[in-house]
Amino acid sequence: MTDCYSFKIKMEKNRKQLKSKRYHFTVGLMCLFLLSADAYECPYTCRCYDSSVICVDSEEIKLPLKVPRMTQNLTLNRNNISVLSDRAFSANGTDMELLALSLEDNNIREIKSCAFCGLPRLLSLELSHNRLMAVDAGAFSGLGQLRNLYLSNTLMAPGASHLPRALSTASLCNLQTLDLSGNRLKTIPLSGFDNLSLTTLILTNNSFATLDTRDLSMLNEFSEISIYLSDNPFECKCDKLKEFNDWLNNSTQCKDADNLKCAQPKEKKDIYVLKVCRQQDLGSYVLLGIVLALIGVVFLMVLYLNRRGIKRWLNNIREACRDQMEVYHYRYEQDSDPRLANVAV
Ligand SMILES: *[C@@H]1O[C@H](CO)[C@@H](O)[C@H](O)[C@H]1NC(C)=O
Ligand SMILES: *[C@@H]1O[C@H](CO)[C@@H](O)[C@H](O)[C@H]1NC(C)=O
Ligand SMILES: *[C@@H]1O[C@H](CO)[C@@H](O)[C@H](O)[C@H]1NC(C)=O
Ligand SMILES: *[C@@H]1O[C@H](CO)[C@@H](O)[C@H](O)[C@H]1NC(C)=O
Repeated sequence: MTDCYSFKIKMEKNRKQLKSKRYHFTVGLMCLFLLSADAYECPYTCRCYDSSVICVDSEEIKLPLKVPRMTQNLTLNRNNISVLSDRAFSANGTDMELLALSLEDNNIREIKSCAFCGLPRLLSLELSHNRLMAVDAGAFSGLGQLRNLYLSNTLMAPGASHLPRALSTASLCNLQTLDLSGNRLKTIPLSGFDNLSLTTLILTNNSFATLDTRDLSMLNEFSEISIYLSDNPFECKCDKLKEFNDWLNNSTQCKDADNLKCAQPKEKKDIYVLKVCRQQDLGSYVLLGIVLALIGVVFLMVLYLNRRGIKRWLNNIREACRDQMEVYHYRYEQDSDPRLANVAV
């Protein structure tokens, strides 16, 4: 626009010199052209800043959106975009410079293969609060630099079942943070962590009753991963919980282990998972102690009530012992008879 303005002034001088109406008309046309070129740079209904383009709450956003090629942050929240198709963010083969892309709350149902192709520098992808029903196996291909993927409150059951395949792509090799909170998950929707560089896995507010053997052994292999599990309905039957509980106690991976609470059975609701079975252990020791004490008391009472009989019995034993001792004494005297010793020699 400033270019256009100075151009206009320059032309104004020319106009004064030439005083030609026709020339004036041409200048106006050129300015209009330059202004519209500027408008093309910042899409209609969007706000554009240095390297950010923000388009929110608009029904008119159609992908692929024409944004300045140097845009680094693109925010497209609440625009009712239902499908992300092939190269949805770089229409004609040219790679974009985008570092962060936010597509929150768009009613996105489907991510097709190569939807994010052409964004080789993308670091952060926000897809929370959508309604993913279908995620193609190649949905995240081409995201070789991606560090953070946010999929919070966004997976419908079919979408969740597609996720292990989509996340096993080799192109997510730099992924560090994966947010899967609020998705009603019962198991970790990953077939492994080998292809990722995960350091943070957020699984809060899901439907985990426990972590099963497969999930635990998968996690044990990657001790650098920190995992968050609060706000899940854990099932606190101590025999079932043992493996998970041992892992919680031994591993430092679960960063919010102290906040995990039981949801079932009812009588253990809202008790902390780390305390529930320890309490039961303590309880059983106390019970054992009480039983032993009772047995002891009963024994003492029996002794007390039978004290006469016992006394008699003891006397009998003493008598018997004395008789026996006398027999021995007699034999000893016989054995030490000197006459018998001489016979032996
Ligand atoms: C498409 O490519 C042409 C040149 O090949 C370029 O001028 C234009 O800006 C591109 N459009 C988008 C949306 O990238
Ligand atoms: C969003 O888009 C779908 C079709 O893609 C349409 O049926 C629906 O009415 C739209 N929602 C709103 C709030 O405009
Ligand atoms: C937890 O997840 C449910 C969906 O599973 C969502 O409706 C709810 O808002 C989430 N709660 C929080 C605190 O995020
Ligand atoms: C975890 O700790 C428990 C005791 O708290 C122990 O019996 C168990 O063997 C440990 N498991 C591992 C895998 O270290």
